[in-house]
Amino acid sequence: MKNVLVVGSLNMDFDVYMERRPLPGETVMAKNLKLVPGGKGANQAYALGKLGVKTAMVGAVGKDSFGQQMLENLHSVCVDTAGILVSETSETGKAFIEVEDNGQNSISVIAGANYEVDGKLIRENRHLFEAADVVVMQLEIPLPAVIEAAQLARECGKMVVIDPAPAKADFPAELYPLIDITKPNETELSVLTGMPTDTEEQVIAAARSLTAKGVGAVLVTLGGNGTMLVTNERLQTFPAYKVKAVDTTAAGDCFLAAFLSAFDGENYADAIDFAARASAIAVTRPGAQTSIPNCEEIQAFRVS
Ligand code: RIB
Repeated sequence: MKNVLVVGSLNMDFDVYMERRPLPGETVMAKNLKLVPGGKGANQAYALGKLGVKTAMVGAVGKDSFGQQMLENLHSVCVDTAGILVSETSETGKAFIEVEDNGQNSISVIAGANYEVDGKLIRENRHLFEAADVVVMQLEIPLPAVIEAAQLARECGKMVVIDPAPAKADFPAELYPLIDITKPNETELSVLTGMPTDTEEQVIAAARSLTAKGVGAVLVTLGGNGTMLVTNERLQTFPAYKVKAVDTTAAGDCFLAAFLSAFDGENYADAIDFAARASAIAVTRPGAQTSIPNCEEIQAFRVS
């Protein structure tokens, strides 16, 4: 049985649904607003828990009702939240998400308590790193904390997975050799590498620039074009399942969690297929954690 530690963000999402997002300077009328537990780290932890993986999380929320709701939602799928700091001074992180009828979105995040995740909190939770098989991070907490967590995970001999989202052009070079698996989409891959990713050849070249820096495996999610796996030995593309998207929020988080729940360290194909099914279901449902399917739903998934 795998044991995963997620080190990352928790946000309350304010989802605003609209026919299309406004252009600069334009006002549009939206249809409705929903408040849903989100945050890339919490979404991944929630999805792992819902898929039956023993999961713990290190992060931070404020001492407010949103923070309480975030913790309760993680408890509902048995995620260990003892490593989540409840800040006396910062509010729970918030994300403002505009979702178009076609499911595409734009996200603005106010980090709040997420920026209180630091080396001290990481070191205080060393026992969670020691107990884990895999440590997963994203980039919505301060980079020094991500570096500290990756170094500690390595020191403890654990698999290190980094979801480079939101992508940062100043991603620290020292992190690359610590990463076993990373999962950028093509936009994040371009920001990360400073290389174009408009064509398949460009995506391959950019992914290879990461393996050349020491990353073990790069999983590039290409939306409707599937997932490309690039390692020193392998280059393979796996298909996506075509569905009618209503909201793509957290689809990448769901993909990564489902992949990790199914990955045995060797068989990428089956784990990627499981993840593609999971994220195909997630995009047909509104919201972040509200869109995550369970194992039975993923196994029963058929494209109609
Ligand atoms: O990946 C989706 C998530 O990004 C949202 O839940 C939002 O909180 C932002 O962190």
